[in-house]
Amino acid sequence: MHNEPRKSSLSSAAAQNRVLFGTAFCTSDLLSQPLTRAILYNCSVVTPEYELKWDAICREHGLPEYSAADELVSFASRNALAVHGHTLWWHESIPAFLQAGTVDQFRDAALNHLKTTVTRYAGQVHSWDVVNEPLEPADGRTDGLRLTPFLAAFGPDYIATAFHQASLLDPKAILVLNEMGLEYASPAAERKRRQMLALLEREKAKGSPISCLGIQSHLTALEQPRDHPELRAFLREIRAMGLSVMITEMDVSDHLCPRDRRRRDAIVAETYRSYLDLVFEEAEVIAVSTWGLTDDRTWLNGFRPRPDGARQRPLLFDRAVRRKPAWHAVQDALLNGRRTGAGTRLGSIIGTD
Ligand code: XIL
Repeated sequence: MHNEPRKSSLSSAAAQNRVLFGTAFCTSDLLSQPLTRAILYNCSVVTPEYELKWDAICREHGLPEYSAADELVSFASRNALAVHGHTLWWHESIPAFLQAGTVDQFRDAALNHLKTTVTRYAGQVHSWDVVNEPLEPADGRTDGLRLTPFLAAFGPDYIATAFHQASLLDPKAILVLNEMGLEYASPAAERKRRQMLALLEREKAKGSPISCLGIQSHLTALEQPRDHPELRAFLREIRAMGLSVMITEMDVSDHLCPRDRRRRDAIVAETYRSYLDLVFEEAEVIAVSTWGLTDDRTWLNGFRPRPDGARQRPLLFDRAVRRKPAWHAVQDALLNGRRTGAGTRLGSIIGTD
């Protein structure tokens, strides 16, 4: 294996707790040697940032196109990196040509996409975000389900359908329900946490093979509280339900921070540290991934531009692929997780024994 954990890398710090550490990236990022080296040095799991999304695979009506995803998965397998498959059913990645079709066409196409994709990568994908972002309290349903074409086509059982199908086709993959906004400190986030617990109880009662909750963790520095009792209570309930947790898309937006780089970097680093400490204390964490590794590859300059026009610095490495204070904060938190006992019981399930 090429990718044995290296001394002083994030994956080796994480491995001490039997946790995987990784990042999302795009296949085209592999053209950059410094970035590729940083991925290989620091990661034990990788997530395609968009290559496995339905609209990336089915750009046009007709045959699906898997070549970019294949390239990323084969890079991972050559280098003994686990792959986190992101994502099978997500309302934001529905192919354009389906948006005008009938409900029946949508249902057939959604099932077909799931079956073809899971089958193609069975045995090569460590975990799947089977359904992404199922909840939207603002949509007004009492069960909190987001109004999507999946809900319209299959009814509220769409989540159970997706998980059952995925588990039949790749019984070894860890099947993840991935969600955003569960981690914030607002009344809306608390409502979403309650709705997520109720959803997971219902799915458990139906026998849906969900084994892990994905918490995206797109945080905002100066907004995310250092301690967060409601999040702690939520994570304890998730643990009591026997579910593990993955931090699937972590980054720390600095759009509320002062411009001064040193201060910004310090605030961002502290946000990583206190958040990871909290989650490790309360949850059975099996993987931590950031949404990109270097600041020039963040999606946040588009999604949350800074009001002063300066570029965001939300990740662990700067543009020159130098470690930032956030890198050290994450390393500390990954090492510290051991003392809080995180991840110790699930090692055999995630295959790191
Ligand atoms: C984002 C990617 O980073 C962008 O490049 C893409 O255009 C849109 O999607 N939650 C998710 C991710 O689950 O798939 C999103 O990724 C970020 C928010």
